[in-house]
Amino acid sequence: SLYREQRRPQYHFSTRRGWINDPNGMIYYEGEYHLFYQHNPFEREWENMSWGHAVSKDMIHWEELPVALHPDESGTMFSGSTVIDYANTSGFGKPDKPAMVALYTVDSPDRQVQSLAYSLDKGRTWTKYKNNPLIDSKEKWNSKDTRDPRVFWYGPGKHWVMVLNERDGHSIYTSGNLKDWQYQSHVTGFWECPDLFELPVQGGNGQKKWVLYGASNTYMIGSFDGKTFTPESGKHYFSAGSIYAAQTFTNIPESDGRRIQIGWGRITQRNMPFNNMMLLPTELTLRKTKDGIRLFSVPVKETEQLFTSAGKWENLAAAQADKHLESFRDASGVRIKAKIKLSHATDAGLSLYGQRLINYDMNYNVLNGMFYSPQDPTSMELSADIYIDRSSVEVFIDGGAYSYSMERRADHNNREGFRFWGNNITVLSLEVFNTKSIWP
Ligand code: FRU
Repeated sequence: SLYREQRRPQYHFSTRRGWINDPNGMIYYEGEYHLFYQHNPFEREWENMSWGHAVSKDMIHWEELPVALHPDESGTMFSGSTVIDYANTSGFGKPDKPAMVALYTVDSPDRQVQSLAYSLDKGRTWTKYKNNPLIDSKEKWNSKDTRDPRVFWYGPGKHWVMVLNERDGHSIYTSGNLKDWQYQSHVTGFWECPDLFELPVQGGNGQKKWVLYGASNTYMIGSFDGKTFTPESGKHYFSAGSIYAAQTFTNIPESDGRRIQIGWGRITQRNMPFNNMMLLPTELTLRKTKDGIRLFSVPVKETEQLFTSAGKWENLAAAQADKHLESFRDASGVRIKAKIKLSHATDAGLSLYGQRLINYDMNYNVLNGMFYSPQDPTSMELSADIYIDRSSVEVFIDGGAYSYSMERRADHNNREGFRFWGNNITVLSLEVFNTKSIWP
């Protein structure tokens, strides 16, 4: 039956059928989180790009709704974002009924243009604007790769901002009415799916910074005056692996104030009628570290409802820790929190049937392929929060300073199960959780 297939993620969103990629148009409105996404409803492969649609009250339990935006004679529906036009600047709203406005890319064989559609019924049905497209950068830059408009209201300037991937980076456009856009500035060095948002710096005495973001989770920290982003840092990254094209919710109430992101999990669902998945929603924060201000991400507190503790231990030898995890090796889902201390190991970590869930190379400061800078470089301690679902693994290191994701690919010829490996490592603490399903 639905959502019961052998490799169906049990606590991550996936579609009943077909292909998905980027999250699109993520917005909170009147008690619902909306997740639109790049979707091929007909096949397991990338084709016929449409905007699929799902809603949730808690970002955890999702209900898949009919496709929101279908391809039309102008082309297919590529990635974009949504806003609520409270002041009815566009004129698409009705009294007491602000329009939900989607800005998206139309892909056609010779160009990519930016277009608009609006909804007056909470995203259920959409009307495409008759004067589309709004922006055709081919004329201006002779560039076909111009896509993924990310729009938000800039309060201080009382105007809309669009960040658009075009040419060799992200451009910024502004508008008073969501229809007419003026080019303002450009930052080189990003590719696809821009995001731009302001966050307080934790421990920074009320200081705030803007983050400019690209599809591969690279970001720059800087300032933004409504028209120009001025970088104050180099390019950093904090997340790697299967994650791509993550987006954050717009319109989260100020009383909540979180910046919440969902990333596309590029995880092939082998022999299933659906393909890929969304990763867990995470809260993004800016923190002061010894290396400067950095982005951190941890699963949102709403995910806690999915887990019940099944055991907790301290100060274990690796073999003892392996024993505690033995009965979970074939579990459909499990969460493991572990803090390990290295001794004179050069590499150490945790594997499951030979797959390295943690792979820390201390000599080169590399962790599962990412450069890793320990918060306390002399402690030789590393903490990991590991979320295993039927076909995926997500790992959050040192309170979200680093994260990565991968396909769960147990090699069952390898009979090892969970195994803490490395020379003389100690498991300072270990906690294991059972997981619940989000599906009815
Ligand atoms: C990123 C991306 C976007 C584009 C979409 C098409 O994964 O290539 O740039 O809008 O996917 O599906």
